[in-house]
Amino acid sequence: MQIAIVGTGYVGLVSGVCLAAKGHHVTCVDINPDIVTRLNEGRPHIYEKGLPELLSSVRSKGLFEAATDLEVALDKVDIVMLAVGTPSEDGVIDLRFVLEAARQIGAYIGSHDKHISVVVKSTVIPGTTDTVVRAAIEEASGKSFPSFGLGMNPEFLREGEAIEDFIEPDRIILGCEDARTRQRLETLYAPWSADKLHVNTRTAELIKYANNALLATQISAINEIANLAASLGGIDIMDVVRGVHLDKRWNPFAPDGSRVSPQILTYLVPGCGFGGSCFPKDVQAIRSLGEQLGLPMNMMNAVLDVNDSQPKQVLNIIEHDFPDVAGKSVLVLGLAFKPETDDVRESASLKIIDTLLAKGAKVAAHDPVASKNFKKALGASADEILFVDDWKRQIANVDVVIVATKWKQYETLSGIDLQGKLLFDARRMFAPTELTNAAYRSIGRRVA
Ligand code: UGA
Repeated sequence: MQIAIVGTGYVGLVSGVCLAAKGHHVTCVDINPDIVTRLNEGRPHIYEKGLPELLSSVRSKGLFEAATDLEVALDKVDIVMLAVGTPSEDGVIDLRFVLEAARQIGAYIGSHDKHISVVVKSTVIPGTTDTVVRAAIEEASGKSFPSFGLGMNPEFLREGEAIEDFIEPDRIILGCEDARTRQRLETLYAPWSADKLHVNTRTAELIKYANNALLATQISAINEIANLAASLGGIDIMDVVRGVHLDKRWNPFAPDGSRVSPQILTYLVPGCGFGGSCFPKDVQAIRSLGEQLGLPMNMMNAVLDVNDSQPKQVLNIIEHDFPDVAGKSVLVLGLAFKPETDDVRESASLKIIDTLLAKGAKVAAHDPVASKNFKKALGASADEILFVDDWKRQIANVDVVIVATKWKQYETLSGIDLQGKLLFDARRMFAPTELTNAAYRSIGRRVA
C-alpha cells in the first residue's frame, strides 16, 4: 500500500520505516526541511537502536521517502496517519498539532474527489478522533463523515526497543469508525500475524492509556512498599519481591515445570521512579480527563504522588550513612530515563541531581549518550556538574556512586574495587554481595 504519515518524531518515523520494511510505500511528511533532508540522506534525527540501518535499507529499496509537501503526499495515498506530538500543558494534553494536521488534511479532502482514511497514531485522550479530529476535518473540508474515513491505531513502542516492538508486536489495535477504514487497516497490517483487536476509536484511545497507567501503577505500588521496607530497616525489599514473584499468578509454571517469568515482573522491581515521555504524561492526562468528568481519580493521583517523591528516597537512604552530604563527592551513573536512549524527559536523575546540588554535594555525572540532552534539561545548574567520559577513573575521586540508569556498561562495576565507597544501586542492577568492598545501599534497603 501507499501511505503517508504526518510527523517524523519518534512514533511517526519508527512506524514509517517499519511499515516500509514490510513492503509498503511510505511518505513521512514533516514541516521541518532539515529533518526531511536528513532522512532522505539516511540519517535519522533521533536516537533509536537499529533505526539508521533499517532506514538505509528501506530507502535503498525505494520504499521510504520524507517530504515537506503534504498535498503531494496525499495525492498518492488512501491512508494518512497522524503521528504529530501531543505535548502536555499542566498535565492536560495539547492537541494543537493534531488539529493543525487534521485541518490541512481536511482542506485537501475538501478540494479532491477522493476518499481518504485519517488514522490517528498519536496518543490522544479517549473521544478525540471521533469528535475533535472529525469536527476539524469536517469544518476544513466542508464534507461530512463518512465521506472521509476515521481510525485510531495506537502504538506500544518502547524507546530503545521500538523497531522490535513494531516489527514483532504483541497486538495490533485497530480502532475504526467506518468499514472502509477497517478494510484499509486490515490490508496495511496483513503482513503481521499478531493478535488484532477491532474496536471503535475511543476504545482504542483508552486501551493505550489503560496500558501505560497500569504499568505505571505497578511501579508506584512496589516503590511504596519498598519505602516501607526501608523505613522498617532490616529488610531487603528484593527478598520480598522474590517472594511475591513466586506466586504462580504473577509467574506461572510452564508445561515443563519451569517458571515462565513474564516480563511484567520487571515492572514490579523497586527503583527511583518512572520517567520518559509517556508514563508521566499519560497518567497525568488520564487523571485530568477523569477530573473533568467529575471523578476523583484517586489511583492516578497516588501513582503520580509516589513517583514524584521517589527520587528523594535516594538521598534519604544515603543520609543514613552521611547525615550531611554537603561537600561529599557523588558520581551519578546514568542520566537517560532508561537505558538505550538519549531521552532525559522526566528522568529520575534530574531530580536526584537537583536534590544533591541543593544539599551542597559535589556532583560528577556520566551517561553513554544522554549528557548533552541532560545539560540542556538541567539548565543553569548544569554548570555545577562535572560531566565525565571516563567514569571508571572518576570513581577514585568520589565518596558515593549512584547507579541511576541500568546501562549495560555499568555492570563492570562488579569487577572494580570500591573499597570505602558507598554504592547506591537505584535500579537494582546488582546483588548486594556482588560489589567488591562497597557499602551497598538501594531503594528498599538501608543499613540496619
Ligand atoms: C512506554 C510503554 O512501555 C510502551 O508500551 C508505550 O508504547 C510507550 O510508553 C508510549 O506510550 O509511547 P517507554 O516510555 O519507552 O514505553 O518505556 P518503558 O520501557 O516502558 O519504561 C517506562 C518507565 O518504566 C521507565 O522509567 C523505566 O525505568 C520503568 N521500567 C521499565 C521499569 O520500572 N521496569 C521495566 O522493566 C521497564
